[in-house]
Formats: sequence, C-alpha cells, structure tokens
Amino acid sequence: MRVIFLGAPGTGKGTQAVWLSDKFTIPQISTGDILRKAVADGTELGKKADVVMKSGGLVSDDLIIALVRERLDQPDCRPGFILDGFPRTIAQGESLDLMLGRDGAIQSVIFFEVSEAEIVRRLTSRRTCSGCARNYNMISDPPPASGLCGSCGGRIIQRPDDSEETVRKRLQVYDEKTAPLKEFYNKQKKLYILRAEQPVERVREELAALLSGL
Ligand code: AP5
Repeated sequence: MRVIFLGAPGTGKGTQAVWLSDKFTIPQISTGDILRKAVADGTELGKKADVVMKSGGLVSDDLIIALVRERLDQPDCRPGFILDGFPRTIAQGESLDLMLGRDGAIQSVIFFEVSEAEIVRRLTSRRTCSGCARNYNMISDPPPASGLCGSCGGRIIQRPDDSEETVRKRLQVYDEKTAPLKEFYNKQKKLYILRAEQPVERVREELAALLSGL
C-alpha cells in the first residue's frame, strides 16, 4: 500500500495514519513529526524549520523533498507507506512522481474533507505529547489529568502553531499552496474523498471500507 493522506491541517490525517500504520505494519511518514523532532534535537534543519513552522508557513520545497527522498529510501518503506502531510505543493507532488517512478507509484490519495469551523475547533483544543507525538483533544479525547502521556509518560503540551491566529494562517497557506493538489491527483484518477467530519471511529470505518474497495 502506497497512499497519501491529503487535507487541511486538523482534518484528522495523523489520527487515522497512526491506526492504519499499525493495522498494515507500514510506516506513517509525517513530515510535520520529522520536522518537530529536528527542532527538538536542535539540528540545522530544525533551526531552519522552527521559525517557519511557528509562523504557520511552509518549509522550503528543497529541504522537504530531500528529507522525504531519504526517508523513502529506508528498507521499512519497501512494503508500503502512508504519506501524512506530504506533498503540500504542486512542486512536491511532481518531485514525488519522479522519485517513485511508475513501478513504485502512489496508488491512492485520500482527501480528508472537514469544514473550517470544525478544523479550528479541533486544532485549538488539540494537545500533543512532547515525547511520542501522540495527539489528544480537550473535547473528544482528553489527556490524563496528570498532564503526562498515557502511552509514554511524556509531557503533554499545546503545539505553538495551534493558537487560533496561527491556525487561520495555516488554513490560508493550505488554500493557496496545498489545495491545488486535489485537482493534480484528480487528473491522475487517484483521488478519493473521505467524509472526515464524523467521530474518529466512523471515519476509520469509512477509510477501511474505502481502502478495501480499491
Ligand atoms: P503537520 O504536523 O503536518 O501539520 P498539519 O498538516 O497542519 O496537520 P495537523 O497535524 O495539524 O493535523 P492532522 O490532519 O494530522 O490532524 P490530527 O489527526 O492531529 O505540519 C506542521 C508544519 O510543518 C506545517 O505548518 C509546515 O510549516 C511544516 N511542514 C510539514 N510538512 C510540510 C511539507 N510537506 N512542506 C512544507 N512544510 C511542511 O487531528 C487534529 C485534532 O483533532 C487532534 O486533537 C485529534 O485528536 C482530533 N481529531 C482527529 N480526528 C477527529 C475526529 N474525527 N473527530 C473529532 N476530533 C478529531
């Protein structure tokens, strides 16, 4: 399975990717998680990405494409992978096609459809583990009262880019730079719409049904 999860921030891509990765034992490749780890580790990439991410903008195509190329070369990607948060620009989509070639091509692109009001509600109430990156939500899936992650014991934080102001900026950037990928993959006949504004379990069922029908 070689699949892309496409959609605006906060539409639940990461939540479903973790589940699917576990179910099929294939890696979830989240460029956001890789960048946040680089920031936490204080690497050169992390230093460059930090300011951009906090502002709600996109890290440069060159850096991201190099990072994904390196990741897809790892042996654990051979049986398949879920791309979560990549590509995010037409240039990234075109590079991915070149990187994979016809034999390793992407099979399907799942578009997560959620209204803007719900996205803002989800992101401003999201909390994240600083250790294992597990997501919680103050409304639908609250973290333990201790403030420590139920999976790894790490500290639960609010991502700096989850303030309402930065969320709105991210949505604007999404409309300008990422939304055109919908048509890009529609033309390749790989786009499938997932009704993602439903409870997590319902979205999961629809995703499973959709993938098994492909
Ligand atoms: P990234 O980490 O990829 O952020 P994003 O795409 O903005 O996605 P999110 O993680 O915000 O949302 P999600 O769709 O995964 O939703 P989630 O499952 O968490 O990127 C961060 C930054 O890195 C970017 O802004 C950019 O600067 C940079 N970057 C990354 N990739 C890049 C690239 N390719 N090119 C350039 N720059 C790049 O769910 C959200 C919340 O809702 C959670 O609290 C969850 O519990 C809850 N939730 C999930 N599903 C449901 C549901 N069905 N009902 C109710 N609540 C739900």
